[in-house]
Amino acid sequence: MEGDPLGHTPVLARQVCELFEVRPGETVLDCTVGLGGHACLFAEALADTGTLIGIDVDPESLDVARERLSQAGCRVELLQANFAEVREVLESVDVSRVDVVFADLGVSSPQLDMPARGFSFQRDGPLDMRMDPRLTVTAADLVNRLKERELSDVLYYNAQEMASRRISRQICQVRREGRITTTARLAKVVADALKVDPESRKSKIHPATRTFQALRMEVNSEIQRLEQLLAVAPDVLNPQGRIGVIAFHSVEDKPVKMDFRRRKAEGVYSILTKKPVVADTDERRSNPRSRSAKLRVAVRMPEERPM
Ligand SMILES: C[S@@+](CC[C@H](N)C(=O)[O-])C[C@H]1O[C@@H](n2cnc3c(N)ncnc32)[C@H](O)[C@@H]1O
Repeated sequence: MEGDPLGHTPVLARQVCELFEVRPGETVLDCTVGLGGHACLFAEALADTGTLIGIDVDPESLDVARERLSQAGCRVELLQANFAEVREVLESVDVSRVDVVFADLGVSSPQLDMPARGFSFQRDGPLDMRMDPRLTVTAADLVNRLKERELSDVLYYNAQEMASRRISRQICQVRREGRITTTARLAKVVADALKVDPESRKSKIHPATRTFQALRMEVNSEIQRLEQLLAVAPDVLNPQGRIGVIAFHSVEDKPVKMDFRRRKAEGVYSILTKKPVVADTDERRSNPRSRSAKLRVAVRMPEERPM
């Protein structure tokens, strides 16, 4: 498991290891196993006596993770599932409680890089964006079917796109002449709406960044699924069990922050990260994706027994 043949570096790897302090014999639930980057680190820490349960909605990622974890000494269970269904997942592998619940949100680099998955405005492909191929509604369906106001709400609430109305109006105008079905076409429509040339040096981020993020979040119901995971986490964690989430933008970090705070006030969690943990200078330089990563970790307090 050493080295990384895929050139895949999990974000905040050192901090994840230090904060979770996984010990042999423990049970770890990696809710977003992806290419198995963090999962390999957990497996190493578990050594020969623990259990690693890894889930992902994307079967292609699971295949890669399965290969990478094939040499692990601990028990490994990998399943295609949504982390909103944590209870069912644990039941299916005969585990009632775990010592770690971990989620590294969003899409993985290969998902982003594969044009066929339709996540990227930099590579042309079908406007898809489903992480889970079993989902039936694609980004193209949303872009071509939602009413102008609904579309602008998606852009505003999911990605805080300040020009949401302008973009949505332009999309609705353009689609009257024919369906918008590719990532390149949508990226162009957004750039035109904002009157920004993506090639210009002045535009630091691509003008369609937020639109793509918002649509991806909608297609995959990302905030709803995260909230469902946060809601069940205390019930599946052992006392002194740790929960940690890596978020990449404020819309997904906020529910984590609020949930941890509320549960702290209720005596359910104690918070290990007063401020979110971020990447150091070296990591920011070597892995651009790490620049927006924020990790929050909390510990499950023992349940009080009635006197
Ligand atoms: C950033 S990647 C994880 C990378 C992983 N930590 C690694 O080091 O290889 C996020 C992964 O989470 C998966 N994912 C996103 N939302 C999910 C959900 N609700 N349930 C299960 N998996 C999800 C995606 O398919 C993707 O593979």
